[in-house]
Amino acid sequence: MTTTTPETRAKTEYRNWIGGRWVPAASGRTFQDLNPARHDEIVGVFPQSGADDVDRAVEAAAKAFDSWRLTPAPRRGELLLQIGLRLRERKEEIARLMTREMGKILTETRGDVQEGIDTAFYMSGEGRRLYGDTTPSELPNKLALSVRQPIGVCGLITPWNFPLAIPTWKLFPALLCGNTVVLKPASDTPASVAELGRVIEECGVPPGVVNIVHGSGKEAGTPLVEHPGVRVISFTGSTEVGKMIGGACGQRLKRCSLELGGKNAQIVMQDGDLDLALEGALWGAFGTAGQRCTATSRLILDRPIAQRFTEMLVERARKLRLGDGLDESVEVGPVINEAARKRIHSEVEVGQREGARLLTGGEPATEGALARGWFYRPTIFGGVTPDMHIAQEEIFGPVLAILVVDGLEEAIQVLNGTRYGLSSSIYTRDVNAAMRAIRDLEAGITYVNGPTIGAEVHLPFGGVKETGNGHREASHTVLDIFSEWKAVYVDYSGKLQRAQIDR
Ligand code: UN1
Repeated sequence: MTTTTPETRAKTEYRNWIGGRWVPAASGRTFQDLNPARHDEIVGVFPQSGADDVDRAVEAAAKAFDSWRLTPAPRRGELLLQIGLRLRERKEEIARLMTREMGKILTETRGDVQEGIDTAFYMSGEGRRLYGDTTPSELPNKLALSVRQPIGVCGLITPWNFPLAIPTWKLFPALLCGNTVVLKPASDTPASVAELGRVIEECGVPPGVVNIVHGSGKEAGTPLVEHPGVRVISFTGSTEVGKMIGGACGQRLKRCSLELGGKNAQIVMQDGDLDLALEGALWGAFGTAGQRCTATSRLILDRPIAQRFTEMLVERARKLRLGDGLDESVEVGPVINEAARKRIHSEVEVGQREGARLLTGGEPATEGALARGWFYRPTIFGGVTPDMHIAQEEIFGPVLAILVVDGLEEAIQVLNGTRYGLSSSIYTRDVNAAMRAIRDLEAGITYVNGPTIGAEVHLPFGGVKETGNGHREASHTVLDIFSEWKAVYVDYSGKLQRAQIDR
């Protein structure tokens, strides 16, 4: 173990991790990881990798697959347990580093690391389950069963908003199932995954089983998707990029799991607990500065409470404290980079042009120390109608659109009226309304009396419609992404028995 902290390493260069060695990009090129709360601070310097680096990583992963696939699943699970325990020891240190590279506040980055620990512990137990089915054969003296088998090299491409949690959602089940991995983390938040790599190395995962290649989507992600040696691609990011990746995988008949955009809504019915719904809306819309796939970007209010609730919300949103997430009194951090801030602001301008009423925010926050970072004011629009751009498109920033409806029927209809379907929420005390919402909301996740964010790792995570392509991460359902089913028949009758024919 070393006494160097991520802070003191900041000025040193991070490297790719290929075949158990820390190596620079073949081209020698690098890029900088900046702190979005103070963009003059360089968190680290990382290899700008390309197709050559991806080739090497895939080769190392393919080589390591030969013995990793034969390592018993309970042993693979024990390694994940060790990784989880080590992450738990380093939780605070990695959370601080993550706040510096991603911007979200410490409470949230601690949660992000915790989600990785939870996934490690959960998946380690799966090593002693990894169940298949046994079932009677239709023929006498014949055994019929199914087993999960590893697939091969998996390419994992992960986003910056959950710099550690989302990589672990993909990595740990992929490893548990006996696959080897090439992981390309987002270039905005590479340090968290680099630290995860160090933890994995310390815990004795064999060389080549996990490979980390840093770089941009274009230069490092695309060659990974297109590489013939990669059998599975798992991607979390925008619907636009997801469609391109899905197309490229489709051409190659490559298994592909996509976790994409959302336009999640929280419904508040007139009988709901308004104080509770208010806390939920603030956390759902402005937590992580709205940069979650599960963020609340629409609020659907039942007309009788709409005005009062809007006033309560706007008052609270105005008071949210912006700043550097390392300061424990700060409630909302910066957005990820300058391009994101510009994009968010242009979406807000579209909202204004469409005739929505800007109730608060609507501009970058630049006073005092905020000028050093990419801050954007928590923004709320009233008078939004379902057809408006700001009611339809994912903004991925601290922008909330309020829509007013008459009753449950219309609330459900409005919630369902987008091309996405990740998370949804309803605040009501009426059990009948809650049950109808659970049945009728078109979303992979429905919360009753809770905000749209807060998924736990042992329940399926994913969405319907253009939020993905039907897979579910987390839970045992993630195993279907990373394993291949094999049906096994053992005939001990000593004679030819013909299914469907010998009856
Ligand atoms: C994401 O929004 O990108 O439920 C992932 C949540 C987190 C995971 C979110 N546990 O908000």
